[in-house]
Amino acid sequence: MKPRSVLIVGGSGFVGTHLAIRLRDELKVFTTDFRQPKRIRGVTSLAMPLLKPDEIKNTVLMTQADVVVYAAGSGSSKSSQEIEAINSSGALSVLAAASLLGSKFIYLSSAQVFDGAKGGYREVDAPVPADDLGKAKLAAENGIRTRGLNYLILRSSPVYGLGPASKPSITDRVLSDLCLGNPVELDDREVHSFAPVESLVEFIARSCVTEGARGILHHGGGEPCTLLELGRQLAQRFKLSPSLLRPKKSDGSGDPGKRDLTLNSSVAADLLKMQPLLLEQGFNLLEKQLLTARS
Ligand SMILES: NC(=O)c1ccc[n+]([C@@H]2O[C@H](COP(=O)([O-])OP(=O)(O)OC[C@H]3O[C@@H](n4cnc5c(N)ncnc54)[C@H](OP(=O)(O)O)[C@@H]3O)[C@@H](O)[C@H]2O)c1
Repeated sequence: MKPRSVLIVGGSGFVGTHLAIRLRDELKVFTTDFRQPKRIRGVTSLAMPLLKPDEIKNTVLMTQADVVVYAAGSGSSKSSQEIEAINSSGALSVLAAASLLGSKFIYLSSAQVFDGAKGGYREVDAPVPADDLGKAKLAAENGIRTRGLNYLILRSSPVYGLGPASKPSITDRVLSDLCLGNPVELDDREVHSFAPVESLVEFIARSCVTEGARGILHHGGGEPCTLLELGRQLAQRFKLSPSLLRPKKSDGSGDPGKRDLTLNSSVAADLLKMQPLLLEQGFNLLEKQLLTARS
């Protein structure tokens, strides 16, 4: 049956905001927020702390959503307990409530479930996380796989694009610092298949209505690079000075060295009829976001 409504948990975040805007003309959209409520035209926003299972259950049941997308997350600066609570325990509480409704559950996982020793990871490769975020994502994935009936675990590469006004994305920060002539330090050790945020939200939108979009799927762009390389290409494209971009210095503590965390997304490309985008294509979409933001 075609879904009529969606609940986006973490709908005030970077991905959640773009997703709500992409879906609001097709579906009844509910979003949840926590510290930074965000009002989006045509979208019903609800406050929902992720550390309170009773509140989670009541809120999810109240929406009667046909699809529940878990797009909540925590920045890397938080404690390992908080990272686990938001990325794993909170997700399993939401899954339990979504299962009572019989809703499809889409969980946003990431390439961090891999250790970066190989690169080009496929859905069948065994995850071996190297950090707290990867461990929390994998704990959630394992819980969903054992408890969920109708779920999609979507492992995405990092995405770029403009963030909500209250929470600038890395793209916002790089562009604004370069415009101001400030030097910017960016990671040069992890290779990722970066993709524009539009590609991720289109992937989720198609997964909401595609029966076969179940189990685990990978999402990424078609031109692997480090964040520093991405920043240089971005600077060139938007006629800013790439010379202000420097490799981020390692803090020396447990430095894992070079890691290749690229994802192979060919299974999803066939299923959802979406080819991984090249940087040039992603920058065209970013340019449109900048024009819309200025108008
Ligand atoms: N961005 C990427 O490149 C990327 C790539 C792969 C996977 N992902 C995954 O996608 C998800 C969303 O990423 P994002 O970049 O959009 O993150 P984000 O901008 O940091 O948004 C996180 C969301 O989680 C909510 N949240 C955080 N702590 C909460 C708590 N204790 N209780 C209730 N809500 C809480 C935030 O609410 P408030 O802001 O209102 O507090 C916000 O809506 C994350 O799980 C992330 O790991 C992201």
